Amino acid sequence: MLVTTKNDCPHVKTTQFFPIEEFIYLPFQSFKCEFCNEKRELWICLTCAKSFCGRYINKHFFEHIKQNNNHILCLSMLDLSVWCYKCITNGFLDVGSYINSPITSKYVNAYSDFKFGYNFMPPTNQISKLIKMNSQQCHNFKYYNFIELLKNRQFRNGVLMVGAGISTSAGIPDFRSEKGIFKEIKEKYKVKHPEEFFSKKKFIEKPKILYDIIKQLNLKKYNPTITHYFMKYLVDKGIIKIIFTQNIDGLELKAGINNAKVIFAHGIFNEGQCINCGKKIDCNDMDDYINKGEIKICNECNNPCKPSIVLYGEDLSDDFYETMDKIQDCDLGIIIGTSLSVEPFSSLPEKLNKNAWSVVINNEQIGEFDYDDLMKYHLFIEGSCDEICKKILVDCNWWDDFYNRFYKINNFNYYNENN
Ligand code: OAD
Ligand code: ZN
Repeated sequence: MLVTTKNDCPHVKTTQFFPIEEFIYLPFQSFKCEFCNEKRELWICLTCAKSFCGRYINKHFFEHIKQNNNHILCLSMLDLSVWCYKCITNGFLDVGSYINSPITSKYVNAYSDFKFGYNFMPPTNQISKLIKMNSQQCHNFKYYNFIELLKNRQFRNGVLMVGAGISTSAGIPDFRSEKGIFKEIKEKYKVKHPEEFFSKKKFIEKPKILYDIIKQLNLKKYNPTITHYFMKYLVDKGIIKIIFTQNIDGLELKAGINNAKVIFAHGIFNEGQCINCGKKIDCNDMDDYINKGEIKICNECNNPCKPSIVLYGEDLSDDFYETMDKIQDCDLGIIIGTSLSVEPFSSLPEKLNKNAWSVVINNEQIGEFDYDDLMKYHLFIEGSCDEICKKILVDCNWWDDFYNRFYKINNFNYYNENN
């Protein structure tokens, strides 16, 4: 429902408020409807501080105001909004019965202190409060701020920027971690800089090595992770508009995300292309050559053909550069599972404007973010991305829906439920 927030309504001035000093100590955890004991969809009367169920249950708040003439402002225990029931019953339902006045916000803050252990108004409005927080409180503060905004669909133009970390739980190694493929390549080929096998120069010299690496990765056999479906879920909700991925495994598409939403910054493995003239090779054809370990030679110019991934020393696609400028208009950037160590991808987050939220989900700190800046809309959530995506879904009350859509059908067999 579209509503206009009002700072006031005539009834705010005439309402006698329950003393705030007492309100902050109320045992909210045991609140239930005074009439029917219902615990869902409760509203607290700001005059007597008793609670009643709302219109979606047994409508007992209406009963309460019928019996008590001047008890009309109430606070939702669900979403912490304050409404004037008089305005509602007078038929002004969608034009300003939602109150956000200085007096009512004291009650909102008091109850949110109880509910979250801190206040969830936007950080910039709460500078003094924030400074008193320790870093854990500050983290929670920002995290629940983010969840509130996410679940209430306040983000409409988000961008995802992802890397190899989102596919590790599927079984595909990342590059730079302890178990990453760079370590293996270093040992196997006795080189200092494993990146070199992903360079144009080295490929022309020794194409067989890249063929072998791609063959060994056997990317076709893997399935999307919870994080991939989480991405699909946010796209479907209209929250995420663009995805930039550095991954060549194509699991974004396997999860059902529309091709048009994804920028494959470093290409995708299953097609092929001549390293010199760019002539395209059919994917099945390329696959055959890689499996046989035989170098496909371009029949136009006699040069080796590569899997259509972007090598060091090559340009990224026009798509990448054209879409990059859209980031400055985004209201949210979520960065997942990338060490942000390869340019130009690693500068994408810098394109976010200063009012946009940037959320990093990774098992280590990355990039140029100021992790100590309390004021910024920047949130770092450390840990396994599948676990974190799951927590976000649960905290937004989206998990059941997500579970029914994705979890049941795709048996996430790589995923340890007891984890
Ligand atoms: P990296 O291997 O550099 O970084 C992966 C990041 O994800 C690391 O910070 C890991 O700690 C983290 N990570 C791994 N598994 C995770 C998990 N389950 N949950 C949370 N975090 C996890 O991979 P990228 O940043 O994608 O380019 O690498 C960028 C580019 O470097 C690749 O696209 C490739 C490579 O050279 C080219 O080949 C052109
Ligand atoms: Zn050619």
